[in-house]
Amino acid sequence: MPDRRIALVTGAGRGIGAAIARRLAEDGMVAVVNDVDEDKAHEVAGLLLEEGFVAFPVAGSVGESESADLIIEEVGREFGRLDVLVNNAGVTRPAMAHRMTDETWSYVIDVALTGTFYMCRAAFKLLRDGGVSSQGPNRKVVNLSSINGIYGTAANANYSAAKAGINGLTRTLSREWASYGINVNAIAPGYISGTRMTSALEDGSDFGLPVEVIRAVEEAIPIGRAGVPEDVAGVCSWLASSDSDYVCGQIVEVHGGMEIIKVNE
Ligand SMILES: NC(=O)c1ccc[n+]([C@@H]2O[C@H](COP(=O)([O-])OP(=O)(O)OC[C@H]3O[C@@H](n4cnc5c(N)ncnc54)[C@H](O)[C@@H]3O)[C@@H](O)[C@H]2O)c1
Repeated sequence: MPDRRIALVTGAGRGIGAAIARRLAEDGMVAVVNDVDEDKAHEVAGLLLEEGFVAFPVAGSVGESESADLIIEEVGREFGRLDVLVNNAGVTRPAMAHRMTDETWSYVIDVALTGTFYMCRAAFKLLRDGGVSSQGPNRKVVNLSSINGIYGTAANANYSAAKAGINGLTRTLSREWASYGINVNAIAPGYISGTRMTSALEDGSDFGLPVEVIRAVEEAIPIGRAGVPEDVAGVCSWLASSDSDYVCGQIVEVHGGMEIIKVNE
């Protein structure tokens, strides 16, 4: 596969990450499917392979530096280079700030923000030395931010701070790495329905949102519908392609016109 670009998508076992892995595979890349949930990483990669795409699962957490290094080492061993890194893995643990525990704060920051940093740091050499050819498209890093990181949302201090941090990290790395032919950008989605993060909250579940919150958010979207993972995957496809070689350090908002979510406490 000498001419296929290698794309690693973290947290790609479900939701937006799985849609991005699929879209980049459809674009002709090797989709390296990472997730902390090993079964999910294998399931998504297996489905893509069954459909004739090129995919490869790499399980592991982005949230600890040793395992982030191991994920990148595995990509290096298998493919010898990396063309596209999509830092999609992220988690939420909503709570009002005055009731938020140390653990709840740290968990979200560790996975979303520190995990993105660990993965970028670990991947730098493979990205710098990679590329299909010196004439080919730039190497690309796409970080999953959120409009929460720009506008803030009640009960999400940990998540909003992590995503705001990702925006700063994105802009800084874009300055540091542009001269190596690596473009760093971020996507800030609004409300993307149908993922585990935005599914309706079930009793006892750590995941999801209350149904009334989902309704309020959907009503606030000028385009008239919630986003779907493919809306984000399409923008990621563009940011991973040579069509965006002159775009760097941008936080691309993908929210159907919804700029501020007002959720009553
Ligand atoms: N769904 C939305 O409305 C929305 C809006 C804005 C931003 N985002 C961002 O998009 C990204 C994907 O969100 P989603 O809605 O698909 O979430 P999701 O919960 O459906 O999927 C996230 C995936 O990340 C994996 N993951 C969690 N911790 C990990 C770790 N330490 N290492 C590797 N993988 C890990 C999970 O196992 C899961 O498969 C996140 O960064 C999220 O913050 C989502």
